Amino acid sequence: MSKPLTIAVFASGSGSNFQAIADAVKAGRLDVRIALLVCDKPQAAVVERAEKEGIPSFVFRPKQFASREEYESEIVHRLKEHNIDLLVLAGYMRLITDTLVRPYYGRMINIHPSLLPAFPGLNAIEQAYEHGAKVTGVTVHYVDGGMDTGPIIAQRALDIREGETLDTLTERIHRLEHELYPEVIQWIREDRVRLDGRRVQRS
Ligand code: GRF
Repeated sequence: MSKPLTIAVFASGSGSNFQAIADAVKAGRLDVRIALLVCDKPQAAVVERAEKEGIPSFVFRPKQFASREEYESEIVHRLKEHNIDLLVLAGYMRLITDTLVRPYYGRMINIHPSLLPAFPGLNAIEQAYEHGAKVTGVTVHYVDGGMDTGPIIAQRALDIREGETLDTLTERIHRLEHELYPEVIQWIREDRVRLDGRRVQRS
């Protein structure tokens, strides 16, 4: 196949999606190289996961920079250093500005735990649960400058069961994310995803 795809994963928290991606690579289900973890929280569990996997990380404290543009410029510099082809946001809890969007639009994706455009933003699983939705799910989309607004690549749905607790729903959503995200990254690796305005086509 064509030249290997080099990815950077962006995360701020526990990193279970990071782990699912790393595990898919190790299992041979995903043919990419994870070259970098980008993390804005030095205490996050994902940092330890990257260490264990032998994956280099760029960990920074946003407060040490004068502005969002400034730390994003530093990130762009690191991405170039590592020849990153695809930016994979997995629980990266920061808004992205033009500094990153401009050079990487169409090469930056995110996973969100609802069926967008329903329930964007924080606590999406809880939002759907509290709203009394009957169906929810997960979305993988390209990142633009908005909050969970970019073109949708893939979605997977599940029924919210009668009497289900928020905990079990959360667990099932995470399981779905861990399946879907590596799959979508592999489609991109196989060059099967085309972005055309707001529409995304998969061959
Ligand atoms: C996931 O639910 C993802 O959809 C959202 O943030 C969460 C990250 O979880 N954007 P983890 O750090 O991958 O465990």
